[in-house]
Amino acid sequence: MNREEAYRLIKENVKNKNLIKHMLAVEAIMKSLATKLSEDEKKWGLTGLLHDIDYEITAKDPKMHSIVGANMLKEIGLDDELVNAVRAHNDMHKIERKTLLDKALYCADPLTGLIVASALIHPDKKLSSIDHNFVLKRFKEKAFARGAKREQIKKCSEIGLELEEFVKLGLLAMQNINKELGL
Ligand SMILES: [Fe+2]
Repeated sequence: MNREEAYRLIKENVKNKNLIKHMLAVEAIMKSLATKLSEDEKKWGLTGLLHDIDYEITAKDPKMHSIVGANMLKEIGLDDELVNAVRAHNDMHKIERKTLLDKALYCADPLTGLIVASALIHPDKKLSSIDHNFVLKRFKEKAFARGAKREQIKKCSEIGLELEEFVKLGLLAMQNINKELGL
């Protein structure tokens, strides 16, 4: 599956524009992580782009989130490593995250929310107006953007990145697609 086909699939299954932006942001971070870790950039990007494909389909049954998506992706022939990472990104299933790809998707997922929320409290509401220190300060404020689970973001240590490095990379990746993100 190429990127264009994956994007089409997302558009068919996800109507919420913010959710699509979230998936684009995770894609961007995953590609940067792949480059940094000398992994498969295409596969890591697709994993990020597709990871929440079932979010609206499973909205009424959140327990099925990531299971339905993984099955959909398996059925269309995507490789097991990608499928497994998508399945394991939802904590609810208690699936062990074994590969670097599993671990990277898991920590990249909540980072996007923290970065978006950080940009939105800046007067400019622009990604280009904030730096990683600004995001790190918000990280330490427990009440800020609670949904962006800090413990999950901190799991970047499992892919060999310090928190500061991870936030820097994530912010830069998202700044590079600021037009698509509308921020
Ligand atoms: Fe997600």
